[in-house]
Amino acid sequence: MKGVILAGGLGTRLYPLTKITNKHLLPVYDKPMIYYPLETLIKAGIEDIMIVTGGNYAGDFLRLLGNGKEFGLKHLNYTYQEGEGGIAHALSLAEYFADGEPICVILGDNIIEKNIIKAVRNFEKQKVGAKILLKEVPDPERFGVAEIENGKIVRIVEKPKKPKSNLAVIGIYMYDSKVFDIIRTLKPSERGELEITDVNNAYIKEGTMTYEMLEGWWTDAGTFESLLRANILVSQTGANND
Ligand code: DAU
Repeated sequence: MKGVILAGGLGTRLYPLTKITNKHLLPVYDKPMIYYPLETLIKAGIEDIMIVTGGNYAGDFLRLLGNGKEFGLKHLNYTYQEGEGGIAHALSLAEYFADGEPICVILGDNIIEKNIIKAVRNFEKQKVGAKILLKEVPDPERFGVAEIENGKIVRIVEKPKKPKSNLAVIGIYMYDSKVFDIIRTLKPSERGELEITDVNNAYIKEGTMTYEMLEGWWTDAGTFESLLRANILVSQTGANND
């Protein structure tokens, strides 16, 4: 399976921290933010990786990561997203890289405590469709929220005002090669973006979406509060532990 890290967008919620750098290069405890999703993929056995970046400081990723030697990689792939067309738009830029293989996608500002290798192996066995990971949170209205009926996922609602559950869809998604055809059918949402939640709902409609509950903590790091939380959690336990 190949891996895709989405590190585009302009990080406006963290302004002025993001005035002269990319959000994913900001420190989280003792490392730049982008190190964490990169380690998440590598620890799950994924070594063929593309980083989708954007904004004015994209060149700094290359200076920081190069070909990933520090992480034991032989090579890293990069591409550039113009503007802020949304997570699904950023993912569409990885179609050529994916080349028909299944992919594990991770958002560049998502950090987790534990290894996801089991879920990745399960998706490899699943062969078709998609898999998402869910986590119970106290503030579901900030995320994509999953509705489960009789053990099956029936719908995801993006940032609902009145969430029907406390199950957030975390920013790690596994897809078969059909994902790029699905993205081509999407229309921009009210916030003007191609939404990953619309991609996931398309798989749910088709009946090929599975889910697992994530073990250990999960946080994003895209707001001042969550960036602070990410720093504290990583300082206490470390991230991507076996
Ligand atoms: O963190 C998990 C949540 O991420 C999910 O629960 C939501 O369903 C999903 O929509 C997303 O929500 P956010 O609104 O918090 O996503 P945000 O706009 O902060 O983008 C998260 C990352 O995605 C960002 O760090 C880089 C990447 N991204 C985002 C956009 C808008 C891109 O690469 N390009 C983009 O255009």
